[in-house]
Amino acid sequence: MVLPTQLPAAPEGTPSNTVALPRTNQLAGLLTIIRDAKTNRGDFIFYSDRIIRLLVEEGLNHLPVVEKTVNTPTGLEYNGVGFEGKICGISIMRAGEAMEAGLRECCRAVRIGKILIQRDEETHQAKLFYAKLPDDIAQRYCLLLDPMLATGGSAIKAIEVLLDHGVPQSRIVFLNLVASPEGLEAMYKAYPEVKVVTAWIDESLNEQKYIVPGLGDFGDRYFTSN
Ligand code: PRP
Ligand code: URA
Repeated sequence: MVLPTQLPAAPEGTPSNTVALPRTNQLAGLLTIIRDAKTNRGDFIFYSDRIIRLLVEEGLNHLPVVEKTVNTPTGLEYNGVGFEGKICGISIMRAGEAMEAGLRECCRAVRIGKILIQRDEETHQAKLFYAKLPDDIAQRYCLLLDPMLATGGSAIKAIEVLLDHGVPQSRIVFLNLVASPEGLEAMYKAYPEVKVVTAWIDESLNEQKYIVPGLGDFGDRYFTSN
């Protein structure tokens, strides 16, 4: 028997811009809970939030630092690093809003922009409705938030909006819970310099363009289900 934790986090062929969290027993266990169709909304929120926190911490690792020396209480110097550059979060509504609190837990008072993109239920095409972003977004590192990457259409559209506002690809880090190989490939083809940090890469998409095995509709399960 091969446990999920014994498989590589990023299967062979995963695009080079993608980083997957290590498949630890903790992560596999948390994902098993949120994938379970019997998990109620309270638990879905609680365990999703734990994974989101891991993702945010990993995402922050992909932002630049500079050398920094401090004096410790022992009277000695410590040669460490300090965070460099301003950041902001951008959530792809609705499901991406579930990731805002996790970002705020790590980055107090972080600015957050919103992009409302919805997938058409029949054509599965992503449609942009609205974007409200910080005025100085072009000078910031952008953590783009969406828990699900299926066809990649929504994330690609959101990146288009950021580029239109002057943000270079190299300053965008996309944080995501579950990705399909198809979505990752589409993202890489469109924007190879955007870094993707995902918790888990699933097998594929079904005919309805849902990720499989997946976890269903993240937005419904987090915000409106029983
Ligand atoms: C979901 C999800 C992504 C998108 C992924 O949102 O949160 O934004 O679908 O699919 P894609 O990669 O094929 O574009 P949805 O449009 O269902 O809206 P929601 O956030 O309101 O659930
Ligand atoms: N949106 C979701 O919430 N889940 C999927 O599997 C695909 C799109």
